Amino acid sequence: MTALDSNSTVAVVGAGTMGQGIAQVALLAGHRVLLHDALPGRAAAAVDGVGGRLDRLVAKGRLGAAEHKAALARLVPAEGVADLAGAALVVEAIVEDLAVKQNLLAELEKVVGDDCLLATNTSSLSVTAVAGGLRLPGRLVGLHFFNPAPLLPLVEVVAGAASGPSAVTTAYDTAAAWGKTPVRCTDTPGFLVNRVARPFYAEALRVYEERAADPATIDALLTESGGFAMGPFALMDLIGQDVNEAVTRSVWEAFFRDPKFTPSLAQRRLVESGRLGRKSGRGWFPYDHGAGVGDP
Ligand code: NAI
Repeated sequence: MTALDSNSTVAVVGAGTMGQGIAQVALLAGHRVLLHDALPGRAAAAVDGVGGRLDRLVAKGRLGAAEHKAALARLVPAEGVADLAGAALVVEAIVEDLAVKQNLLAELEKVVGDDCLLATNTSSLSVTAVAGGLRLPGRLVGLHFFNPAPLLPLVEVVAGAASGPSAVTTAYDTAAAWGKTPVRCTDTPGFLVNRVARPFYAEALRVYEERAADPATIDALLTESGGFAMGPFALMDLIGQDVNEAVTRSVWEAFFRDPKFTPSLAQRRLVESGRLGRKSGRGWFPYDHGAGVGDP
């Protein structure tokens, strides 16, 4: 077993939907967690968000009051990348954009020690490409959590072409030690789940674009008759239209624009109008609260 020691510090970069969830998972596994976001004040607000979700766990009797207090004391907002120097593992959960991720990781590598493990939560970008600009590319692996990270057990552990075997094993064992169900994947576009899920979203969007049925009707059919836990439109709202579209776009590009992965114009309009889903209060459906990590 080569999981990270629970006394070691984990840094999470990107304090959005996924970063907050991953921070919560690492926190409850005993780590000190540094949470950083490029938007000023976002990390501090995310610490409050995680605190609120821990409050709900206490109310449900799933977390003791003392454990809650100790966990919150270990969660630290970090205003700058330089503040992440002491981390043994950094999980990046920022925007799904290759150049932005590469830039961040290059900055991180100037700050952290050579033995620091780097992980990307990318849904669809090539892990090999994300590691492309690193001085030590062998230390980067894909650690792909699912939304909401505190609730869903699956984690895809993705080995890029340069990922070192010990980095992959440590990432796998750490995910298992965090109570997750890790699955090893190769670096294919969309890995396993997002690749298989593309037609689920694409066909639902096409049916809608053909005006055959509206989103509520399609979702109701799939949940009530099809047995799905969530319909495709509610799921896109949970994921975020921007994130869901970026994943489709990158799988489409990776397969040389295979028409079966063509992004949707209707979804493009939603992204352009800022109707990103739960996190913006409106997507395919209206919501009266912000990002719903942990309470889908
Ligand atoms: P989000 O939009 O909720 O949050 C992204 C955060 O990253 C924002 O707070 C933003 O300010 C911050 N950010 C952007 N650029 C940054 C930079 N250079 N340095 C520091 N912070 C930066 O996005 P979400 O949904 O949390 O997705 C993040 C990553 O996780 C993406 O790679 C996405 O593909 C992946 N992912 C998303 C899932 C989902 O259901 N939303 C599921 C699994 C993976």
